Amino acid sequence: MNRPLAEADVIRCAEQTPAVLEARGLSYAHAGIGTLFEGVSLAVRRREIVALLGSSGCGKSTLLRVLAGLEQPATGSVSFLGEPLASPHPRSALVFQQPSLLPWLKLADNVGFGLDFAHQPRAGREALQGRIAAAIEAVGLKGREAAYPAQLSGGMAQRAALARALAREPELLFADEPFSALDAITRAEMQDLLVDVVHRWHSAVLLVTHDIDEAILVADRILLMGGRPGHLAQEWTVDIPRPREDHPEAVTALRLSILGALRHASL
Ligand SMILES: Nc1ncnc2c1ncn2[C@@H]1O[C@H](COP(=O)(O)OP(=O)(O)OP(=O)(O)O)[C@@H](O)[C@H]1O
Ligand SMILES: [Mg+2]
Repeated sequence: MNRPLAEADVIRCAEQTPAVLEARGLSYAHAGIGTLFEGVSLAVRRREIVALLGSSGCGKSTLLRVLAGLEQPATGSVSFLGEPLASPHPRSALVFQQPSLLPWLKLADNVGFGLDFAHQPRAGREALQGRIAAAIEAVGLKGREAAYPAQLSGGMAQRAALARALAREPELLFADEPFSALDAITRAEMQDLLVDVVHRWHSAVLLVTHDIDEAILVADRILLMGGRPGHLAQEWTVDIPRPREDHPEAVTALRLSILGALRHASL
C-alpha cells in the first residue's frame, strides 16, 4: 500500500484520469533560507482528496502557495487543467487556518465576495445568488446569511470560509491546516463536512496538515514531505471504506506506518 515516490508514478497517475493539478520538478529557494524544497513532482486527479503531511517548517505551506500559483518556484512547472499556471486559477479556491472574513460584510456577502471579479468565469446575478445559497446551506449556515463575522463562533466562521470556497465551484480546493484552530469536536465535524461537500461539489482537494489522524480520516491519498531540503518521501493510498472510524484496525495500521516513516532518519 505504501512505497517511495518515483517520477514514473506521477506520470502514470496523470495518465489514468485527467489531473486537475500537475507539478514537475519543483524547487523553491529564498535568500534567507536557501533551498526549502526540491524535486517535488505530484499530480492531483479530479475529485481526489490528497493530504500533504510533514513536520513543522518542512515547507508544506510554501509548496501549497507555489501549487496554487501564489508564488513562483525556482525550478519546475505547475499546470492546472492541462494549462501552465502563472497565477491563481479561477477554478481553484483556498481555505486557510484563519477564516479571513471581511468584518464589515454579512455572511452571504462574505461568501459571495469576489465572485463577480473580472477573472472569474462569467455568471448571471441569479446564478451567483444560487451558488451562494447552495454553499451556505451545504455548510449548515442557512438562516445565518445576515450575520456579521463577529457574531459567528470559530467553527461557524470556518464553515463560512468553506462556503466561500465552494461558491467558486472549484475543481480544486487548496486547504492549509484549515481546522487546526478549532476544538476537537468542531474539528471532527468539519473533517466530515469537508469530505461530504467536496464529494457533492465534485471537487478535488489538496489538504496540508500535520495531523496524521486528519489525513487518514479525510484523504484518498497521503503524501509525506520531509528532509532538508524538503522532498516528497512516501505516499499511501488510503482505501479504507468510509466512515473510517468504523475500521479502527486498518486506521491504526496506517497510522503506525506513517509514524514510522515520519521518524525515519532520512526525513
Ligand atoms: N519567502 C520566504 N522568505 C523567508 N522565509 C521563508 C519564505 N518562505 C518560507 N520561508 C521559511 O521557510 C520555512 C518553511 O515554511 P513553511 O511555512 O512552508 O513550512 P510548513 O511546513 O508549512 O510549516 P508549519 O507546519 O509550521 O506550518 C519557514 O521557516 C519559513 O519562515
Ligand atoms: Mg504551514
